[in-house]
Amino acid sequence: MGAYLPDYILDNFELSKMVDTSDEWIMSRIGIKTRHILKGEGLGTSYLGEHAVKDLLEKTNTDPLDIDLLICATVTPDMFFPSTANLISYKAGLKNAFGYDISAACSGFLFALVTASKFIETGAYKKIIVVGADKMSSIVDYEDRSTCPIFGDGAGAVLLEPNTEGLGLLDSELHSDGGGAQHLHMKAGGSAYPATIETVKNKWHHIYQEGQAVFKAAVSNMGDVSAAVMERNNLTIDDIDFLVPHQANMRIIDATAKRIGLPKDKCMVNIEKFGNTTAATLPLCLWDYESRLKKGDNLILATFGGGYTWGAGYLKWAYDGGDFSR
Ligand code: UT7
Repeated sequence: MGAYLPDYILDNFELSKMVDTSDEWIMSRIGIKTRHILKGEGLGTSYLGEHAVKDLLEKTNTDPLDIDLLICATVTPDMFFPSTANLISYKAGLKNAFGYDISAACSGFLFALVTASKFIETGAYKKIIVVGADKMSSIVDYEDRSTCPIFGDGAGAVLLEPNTEGLGLLDSELHSDGGGAQHLHMKAGGSAYPATIETVKNKWHHIYQEGQAVFKAAVSNMGDVSAAVMERNNLTIDDIDFLVPHQANMRIIDATAKRIGLPKDKCMVNIEKFGNTTAATLPLCLWDYESRLKKGDNLILATFGGGYTWGAGYLKWAYDGGDFSR
């Protein structure tokens, strides 16, 4: 695992000077204390991804020229085109890799991981990097108190390679429902509503979220899909070493763990430090907990996000994380 978090930290005290909120409300309703924010003229998501990939290559002692493919999951690409994957590959020196982006919001990393693992399983490619990266601060409305405390910026990256020991992503179940778009979207900037002075004035280039509708859908779908994947693979709670849930709201994480009957100490949580980094939450959890992971550990990855998109994956961890301690 490689990762990058920008230096600037936006805490609840600073937020309470920007909108009518408090540390007490944010901690009790969401569970976030701080989030990292990327500052700097012209720096976009590829900057976050580039540094996560360089961290990964250095840690794993991998030659950038050996990478076949890089898939970047993001909803905050630097530009519509070229893809952020291509920009990251260029900046990190992956001269032999092709790349493309996957847009599945908070579920993007899992969707990309599933795609990449299929390329490995078929034998098509030998070394694939999956990046989850988002500069959410670029689309957050810092006058909307119901969404601005939630999001942060960051990137995580993982290297996939073949093995014959039954390790890796063993099963997954992914879902999409475009009907959810009405509750969570960014209206303008695409082909339906290209940027105009009006779209800017109307704040259509920011995240629109109906929090309660999204909350309810997240709680039921993340729990159900995790339970379905466990059941299909005959996994009981005792078999699971960690749940790796999308970090959107501490109450959603708790509800998902409860739905599958998992004790809290088996649930990866870092929302308090990093907030919701959209496509980066899953890889940032794996990176954060890496030193505690052992070869053969059974992980359930669970996500829900804009689209709507949601899913779960059954991952058998491939190495002793302590060997790569930071
Ligand atoms: O990762 C993408 C997927 N996104 C999610 O999973 C997010 C899901 N939704 C949520 O996490 C929650 O719905 C929110 C965190 C967005 C909001 O929490 P909530 O408990 O659903 O609050 P609410 O929207 O029902 O608002 C309750 C009250 C309202 O005041 P009144 O009308 O009861 O007087 C809001 O105006 O809390 C107020 N409020 C705030 N108060 C202080 C909303 N935001 C704030 C705030 N500080 N930041």
